[in-house]
Amino acid sequence: MNPLVITHSEEKHFNFDKIPDLTGKVAIVTGGNSGIGYVTCRELARKKSHVFLLGRNIEKVQAAVETIKSETGNQDVEFLHLNLKSLKSVKECAENFLARNLPLHILINNAGAITRPGQRYKQSKLANILFTDEFNRRYLEGEQVYSNSLHPGLVDTPLLRRNDLSYSETFMSSSISPEDGAITALYCATSPEIEEKNYRGRCFVPFGIEGKKSSYAEDDDLAKRLWEFTENLISEKLSQKK
Ligand SMILES: NC(=O)c1ccc[n+]([C@@H]2O[C@H](COP(=O)([O-])OP(=O)(O)OC[C@H]3O[C@@H](n4cnc5c(N)ncnc54)[C@H](OP(=O)(O)O)[C@@H]3O)[C@@H](O)[C@H]2O)c1
Repeated sequence: MNPLVITHSEEKHFNFDKIPDLTGKVAIVTGGNSGIGYVTCRELARKKSHVFLLGRNIEKVQAAVETIKSETGNQDVEFLHLNLKSLKSVKECAENFLARNLPLHILINNAGAITRPGQRYKQSKLANILFTDEFNRRYLEGEQVYSNSLHPGLVDTPLLRRNDLSYSETFMSSSISPEDGAITALYCATSPEIEEKNYRGRCFVPFGIEGKKSSYAEDDDLAKRLWEFTENLISEKLSQKK
């Protein structure tokens, strides 16, 4: 699937009003300081979830935390440092969260960047979908834990406004707001439908409806190979650093 080409249905299957009360739920959102991730954190906080914004730029994420606290009145909004370009940082971030002895109910792997639009970006998104499916197969069968992937739509965020991308105004005019862009992630993370319909390893599109995966994304063997390749690469890199 081309990550940047998508149609947005007129009708919204899900919206912020349908997010249930999240009192007692703990949520982690990577890249929570900007764009889709920011709105996602804000709406989770509004429904009383304890939210952790994970990000690499301490000042930017702290500012986002403070804005969300004042906009929603929820003071259980926190920051954890995470730079996804560094395995050391990923490990430290996981350890810092585990040290809090909190449960984890919602994990939204949102952070991402277009380094070079095109093949690499598409491959990174394909890897996200394959990872989600393999995660379900390996660890979640029979568990009350649901892992799905999604396309948020073409969303007008800093990511698309970067100077080096210079998308035309015609292209940008088909984009949706970060508010609408957050709907599909919030659907996957909070809608009771996910559990009721036992949605696992599905791929959702705006606004909370099931999308069709590409043939690559349906390839179970590719998912298995990606998982094993990644596991080997991570242990190799971590052992080099000891
Ligand atoms: N916008 C769209 O049309 C669109 C379409 C399809 C998919 N997506 C996906 O949706 C997700 C959110 O994107 P967005 O449009 O909301 O863009 P955005 O506003 O640029 O947000 C991206 C977030 O990811 C964080 N991030 C990037 N690299 C990171 C790293 N190495 N470590 C930790 N955090 C990092 C950014 O942090 P900084 O602020 O510090 O850079 C920022 O918080 C991305 O995965 C994107 O690929 C977006």
